[in-house]
Amino acid sequence: MSSKVLVTFGTMTGTTREVAEAIGAELRAGGHAVEVARVDEAKSIDDFDAVVAGTPVMIGMLNGPFRKFMRRNAKKLASKKVAWFLVCGYMNEPTDENVNSARKRVDSISGLVPDANPLATAMFGGAIKTQGSDFERLNPFLKFMSGKIAADMKDGRDWNAIKAWARHLAAKL
Ligand SMILES: Cc1cc2nc3c(=O)[nH]c(=O)nc-3n(C[C@H](O)[C@H](O)[C@H](O)COP(=O)(O)O)c2cc1C
Repeated sequence: MSSKVLVTFGTMTGTTREVAEAIGAELRAGGHAVEVARVDEAKSIDDFDAVVAGTPVMIGMLNGPFRKFMRRNAKKLASKKVAWFLVCGYMNEPTDENVNSARKRVDSISGLVPDANPLATAMFGGAIKTQGSDFERLNPFLKFMSGKIAADMKDGRDWNAIKAWARHLAAKL
């Protein structure tokens, strides 16, 4: 069956956007009609059968606009097919402690929308962009902080794992 799917994401520097776009491309290849949009630019979710929502972790917290979007749409999300993904530095070094930290955050997404029942959740490694449209929206302090952290951070996004998760999800939607 083909579903109408919104892939929506919070982001600071833009790396979660790229993950969302890769997921969207796989879902499209799986036969679904897909729109990919930032949480603060997404239209009403009324027209969609399914919502795949992703957030980075910043200073231990989920992205603010992402949390707002999820709370605002909590009731509607409860009646749709949903899946969550997390993009974070913890998964760049997946020690037990870091995986637990990531797991806590991805589980906390369901805390924002307690009546929704995710078909799948995922935790991916992260990265930091220091250019591009999302980065350019940041205030000077966040640009500075991101630049400093970026210097020591590898790109931990495993594109094969991201695509595999999306293909698996495509079959469930
Ligand atoms: C200021 C800042 C704080 C961060 N804090 C955390 C953190 O507490 N835990 C974590 O796992 N990753 C942390 N990260 C890494 C981000 O989650 C990761 O780089 C992510 O891919 C960024 O997503 P974005 O490009 O969509 O904003 C931080 C990154 C930045 C720039």
